[in-house]
Amino acid sequence: MPVIQDLLENNRRWAQARASQDPDFFPRLSRQQAPEFLWIGCADSRVPANDIVGMDPGELFVHRNVANLVVPSDLNCLSVIQYAVEVLNVRHIIVCGHYGCGGVRAALEEGQLGLIDNWLRPIRLLSHAHRAQLNALSDLDARVDRLCELNVIAQARSVAGTTIVQNAWHRGQTLAVHGWIYSLHDGLIRDLGVDLRSVEELVVAERIAPA
Ligand code: CO
Repeated sequence: MPVIQDLLENNRRWAQARASQDPDFFPRLSRQQAPEFLWIGCADSRVPANDIVGMDPGELFVHRNVANLVVPSDLNCLSVIQYAVEVLNVRHIIVCGHYGCGGVRAALEEGQLGLIDNWLRPIRLLSHAHRAQLNALSDLDARVDRLCELNVIAQARSVAGTTIVQNAWHRGQTLAVHGWIYSLHDGLIRDLGVDLRSVEELVVAERIAPA
């Protein structure tokens, strides 16, 4: 079990190794960041954004919360999206969920955990909307995993439906919204085929398969 001083010691070693590999690494990053990607993922400790997609510091702008939700009244998440799209000019927004998500599981199970239940309410509503499909699955784990996928699709559409992304598309800015899901079992990401690049694509996607 690491103790708190280990973290600072690790940091000193990491900074030293980085600087010896590439002496301009920190000076360069301190001048500016120019990431092409915004990552919206779960706060789960087992899904470290940069690590699992092999991105260095400076390459991924990251927002994480419990169950990778994009709620239109969440000033924190919206501010991240606005800054990423309008100031950093990212070209891709990736909503990446993960199978076995505790937040999704909590939304599916009976009983209260406290304040977090309010945060998870959109997932509970999503599970009601897909009740028939979820109930057809044999066990709770399978239902959780399917709801994890449905949640990613819904949150990717939620990103695409923000005024920030809509306005970017109206301006002709190149910007794609993707929906991915990560497996804790093998470390692999699966592309859920959500690939929204225009207002029209969002409208069509929502018409074909309501999430
Ligand atoms: Co999670």
